[in-house]
Amino acid sequence: MTTFKPVKAAIIGCGMISGIYLENCVRKLKVLDVVGCSDIKPDRSKAKAEQFGIRQMTNEEIWNDPQIELVINITNHTSHHEVSKKSLLAGKHIYGEKMMAVELEEGAELVALAKEKGLYLCGAPDTYLGAGLQTARKIVDAGLIGTPVAANITLVRGYHHERYREDPERRFAFCPGGGIIFDMGCYYLMGLINLLGPVKRVCGFSQIREPDSRRYMNPSNPEYGKVMKIETPNNLAGTIEFECGVLCNILTSSESIGCNHFMLFGTEGQLNLGDPNNFGDAPVLTTKGGSAAMPFTHAFKENSRGIGPADLAYAIRNGREPRCSAERIYHMFEIAHGIMISDKTGEIYTMKSTCTRPEPLAPGCTEYPEMVFDL
Ligand SMILES: NC(=O)c1ccc[n+]([C@@H]2O[C@H](COP(=O)([O-])OP(=O)(O)OC[C@H]3O[C@@H](n4cnc5c(N)ncnc54)[C@H](O)[C@@H]3O)[C@@H](O)[C@H]2O)c1
Repeated sequence: MTTFKPVKAAIIGCGMISGIYLENCVRKLKVLDVVGCSDIKPDRSKAKAEQFGIRQMTNEEIWNDPQIELVINITNHTSHHEVSKKSLLAGKHIYGEKMMAVELEEGAELVALAKEKGLYLCGAPDTYLGAGLQTARKIVDAGLIGTPVAANITLVRGYHHERYREDPERRFAFCPGGGIIFDMGCYYLMGLINLLGPVKRVCGFSQIREPDSRRYMNPSNPEYGKVMKIETPNNLAGTIEFECGVLCNILTSSESIGCNHFMLFGTEGQLNLGDPNNFGDAPVLTTKGGSAAMPFTHAFKENSRGIGPADLAYAIRNGREPRCSAERIYHMFEIAHGIMISDKTGEIYTMKSTCTRPEPLAPGCTEYPEMVFDL
């Protein structure tokens, strides 16, 4: 393993998901040196800074600190574009949570800005770098399912039930750029880009069911009693044609109760890919001989959020391409938008962007084997 200086990083956004990022990035991933964190709610950054022994900072202090090379943007999705843009303008590399922005044009602007500045723009999800989907990649590349021909994504969750209607922080489920296709669909789309490569065309239908008929239910929510306006698709069905020829149907609905089905079908067998929101769902291989959960060939089966930024840190030091690269996260973002555009125009949407499959990680199942990134 090459030895080099860890990359100095700071986290912007100290909400729900920041705990696991900080746990992994501060305590486990040695390639990262997280020096501080900020939040527009300073009580949150104070609490996290104290818990993890780092500096409580403001966004501006992070942007103005010449030592900080990398910003990890885990704000709400409506702040992603602004925080990433300001970070790039301040000369920082970015790893951001999904999706990269709300509007497609904002995503394209960030990609262009990063290129102009010579900085890396990377983003979630990094679950496909985990044990489950890296093992699946090895199975597919080894030809164990033959030639992939078809895939299925059924992603159904209840977003409009009590939990979301009671919690003022759950607005991502209802506002533009959020909702189930952007919030959860990304795990499935990047999971398939990892296995199959880029997408050529998409089409579909997207609906906002009952946009004005639900109300906020929690008396301590300032919006209590008001209409919970739904402004993003909560029911979407589409078809995705990969450049390699695989056809995939995708159903994302937040109008029912939970159901997950993520399958890849090949000429010789099929893979049940589990829940790609998890790092360690063992793929189940079915061939004519029977079915079995496959043993992991790769590490990171626990909640390893932060391995995307760690991979980026190695890329910064080695000058190689990061796996969660701008071209891939933008391509994923365009697929989701493309299905919605197809619904509006009534036409098949031809993708304007493309990308390559990311390099697989090196196999190895020891705990936090960072050398797997050091390629
Ligand atoms: N919660 C999860 O299980 C989960 C899992 C994976 C990914 N994510 C993603 O991570 C991101 C954050 O999710 P979360 O659940 O932690 O949300 P959250 O609402 O709990 O936290 C977001 C934090 O960002 C802060 N913030 C917003 N705008 C800011 C700005 N301009 N500058 C500084 N701070 C700002 C908010 O004050 C808040 O504390 C989202 O993109 C989400 O999709 C969440």
